[in-house]
Amino acid sequence: MKSPFQFGGIVSGNSFTNRSNDIKRLLTNFESNINTLLLSPRRWGKSSLIYKAAQIASDKNSNYKFCFIDLFNIRDENEFYSVLTKELIKVTSSKPEEWINNARKFLKRITPKITIGIDPYTDFDIKLDVDTIQESYSEILNISEKIANNKKVKIIVCIDEFQNLSHFNNPLLFQKRLRANWQHHKNTVYCLFGSKRHMLMELFENKSMPFYKFGDTFYLDKIDTDSLVGYISKQFKRTKKDIEPKFTLEIVSSMRNHPYYVQQLAHLVWINTNKKVSKQIINISKEDLLNQNSILYEKEIETLSTTQINFLRAITNNIKNNFSSTKTIQEYNLGTSGNVIKIKKALMKKEIIDVINSKPVILDPAFELWLEKIYFRLNK
Ligand SMILES: Nc1ncnc2c1ncn2[C@@H]1O[C@H](COP(=O)(O)OP(=O)(O)OP(=O)(O)O)[C@@H](O)[C@H]1O
Ligand SMILES: [Mg+2]
Repeated sequence: MKSPFQFGGIVSGNSFTNRSNDIKRLLTNFESNINTLLLSPRRWGKSSLIYKAAQIASDKNSNYKFCFIDLFNIRDENEFYSVLTKELIKVTSSKPEEWINNARKFLKRITPKITIGIDPYTDFDIKLDVDTIQESYSEILNISEKIANNKKVKIIVCIDEFQNLSHFNNPLLFQKRLRANWQHHKNTVYCLFGSKRHMLMELFENKSMPFYKFGDTFYLDKIDTDSLVGYISKQFKRTKKDIEPKFTLEIVSSMRNHPYYVQQLAHLVWINTNKKVSKQIINISKEDLLNQNSILYEKEIETLSTTQINFLRAITNNIKNNFSSTKTIQEYNLGTSGNVIKIKKALMKKEIIDVINSKPVILDPAFELWLEKIYFRLNK
């Protein structure tokens, strides 16, 4: 039987749980022409949420057209313009036959090179001439508005891994160009999202940056306990396996409500269970989860300095707040108090920890468990 749990990739339908308030917030933004800047650490469910909201919005209103772009696959500004144009044309034309005409119609000054293959959906490509792009980027950045007005639709441009623009040649100039053109749009709404929280905060919350106050900055939370517990029991029931509430709760709380890991642990428990979940099955499944991830974690540890690892040890030992006290510094060999600040910054940059209510926490709950149960036990 197929596992009812899914981890990795975008989840939808039966595998998507709750987030009704988050969906509402996005839908309201789309409707009210408010741009969204959605941030969360990796694998908390940003992409799944946006796709879900997009699906609900387009089911409700066929005038909504969603254009998805992932900056992960885009190397430079020129490629971005080509991909943006291509996707906008695709999502706003009903038939492939219209694509070429629309591309010509909406791009007056730039002559795009269009290729279309046997399967138009996968083999359609638009390449813009590099020299003309730099002269006419604003035409490209306004094409969504032109199409939206012409076709009487609303376009929602969703850009994933937005922080990747920092790899472009001149990221600041690029942001200025986007902002200068996009801020006038009335029928295009932007939803920018990504996982490098600190980098994105710098883009969105620093007064001197172009995207400052561009929209609703939305820090996505993990999923609440009730929804996750309800979800796991429903999936077990559906597949005719039994799980007591205390065990569903344990799956959720041991993974600290992390959507990806809750699904992964639930999946392992489900696989290890014939009929009824027991405490022993829960323990074995946790071990399985750590074993499956251990190569990754060992690699992660190799990139850290001794003092950084010592700092993580202090976190797992639940040192209360004061990491800069002489006692903690001595006990955990952290160097100087200046060093503690540096360690914290470096670990935050690597997205291993975050500081929440002035307390450093390890972001990955399974990595923390692995440190505690395996790594620090072996390396006392
Ligand atoms: N609403 C949800 N209900 C149940 N599980 C979810 C939900 N959202 C996310 N997950 C779990 O988390 C995993 C990652 O989700 P998703 O890819 O949407 O996150 P992300 O924040 O976009 O991740 P990344 O930072 O890697 O792009 C999913 O495969 C699924 O296991
Ligand atoms: Mg994603």
